[in-house]
Amino acid sequence: MLPSKDVVAINEVVLRDGLQNEPNFVSTEEKIRLANSLSRTGVRRIEVSSFVSPKAIPNLRDAEDVFRGIERVPGVTYTALVPNERGIQRAIECKVDEVNLVMSIGEKHNLKNLRMTCAESLAQFKGIMGALAGTAISVNGTLATTFGCPFEGPQPVERVLWAIDTYLALGITGITIADTIGVANPRQVAKLVALIRKHHEDLPLTLHLHNTRDMGLANAMAAVDEGIRSFDSALGGIGGCPYAPGATGNVCTEDLVHMLHRCGIDTGVDLEALIDLSGKLSDILGHQVPGYVVKSGTSSRLYA
Ligand code: COA
Ligand code: ZN
Repeated sequence: MLPSKDVVAINEVVLRDGLQNEPNFVSTEEKIRLANSLSRTGVRRIEVSSFVSPKAIPNLRDAEDVFRGIERVPGVTYTALVPNERGIQRAIECKVDEVNLVMSIGEKHNLKNLRMTCAESLAQFKGIMGALAGTAISVNGTLATTFGCPFEGPQPVERVLWAIDTYLALGITGITIADTIGVANPRQVAKLVALIRKHHEDLPLTLHLHNTRDMGLANAMAAVDEGIRSFDSALGGIGGCPYAPGATGNVCTEDLVHMLHRCGIDTGVDLEALIDLSGKLSDILGHQVPGYVVKSGTSSRLYA
């Protein structure tokens, strides 16, 4: 169900998109602690890990242990990224609430990232939907590189609409459009979101933004104005796809929540708790995070 008009849902992806691109492995215990803390901040969905090849993404090789270790808070959806049929077996065994399937709009990025053509990815998804039949696991589908591919450049909107139709025909119920490499601009976002919503008015549509060129929050606001009520974002603004050259962090959760709250748009998220967690994340990673409000404080900060 889509949240109401003035409420935006936050899907926290720091444990997946965030950690997949970090130089160092974050321990399973730290991941579990972070997931448990995030579960109590009011975020709607937590992407806990990904069931991908441990050779492709060594940082998330402990997906099973993380899933086994976390406490599940009622009302929070615990999801994981899945690229293929092997991944879905692991996800089912871990009793995920939802899976997030991923394919790129750009063929070349799909080949680099998943070593499959788009047709091969879709064939995997068909098998996955079969494997999920009769389970209570819901399925979201992400379209990576929707706003531009690092190898092919801009992608035709017709291809995006085709991919959405194809996902829906497979039985996927929620769609995420992703700006994997942070090339989208606010006008482009507004136009594409309006077009998609014209074709699929009630479709649960999520936007996944990267802040590579500092357009992340502007893009988010443009999307909200066009009716988007669900965002992926990462605590601290870390993250990125290791198979997209030059990729950098997701739009930062606490910065996004701060902006939305200042605009009078509720998220149900405890901003102070997020800022506190973002400070702890820097300690865990051993470096500063890109986010702003964790350093500056909120806009209501006063000095003596
Ligand atoms: N989970 C765990 N292991 C997996 C797996 C999965 N979902 N899918 C494949 N593997 C293993 C195979 O068992 C095999 O292992 P082995 O070498 O020990 O025999 C190995 O990976 C290769 O399998 P193959 O089916 O040939 O896969 P591939 O090498 O063509 O890679 C993917 C395909 C999809 C598995 C890989 O590209 C991948 O995991 N990509 C994810 C990238 C990512 O997460 N990017 C960021 C998010 S968008
Ligand atoms: Zn991403």
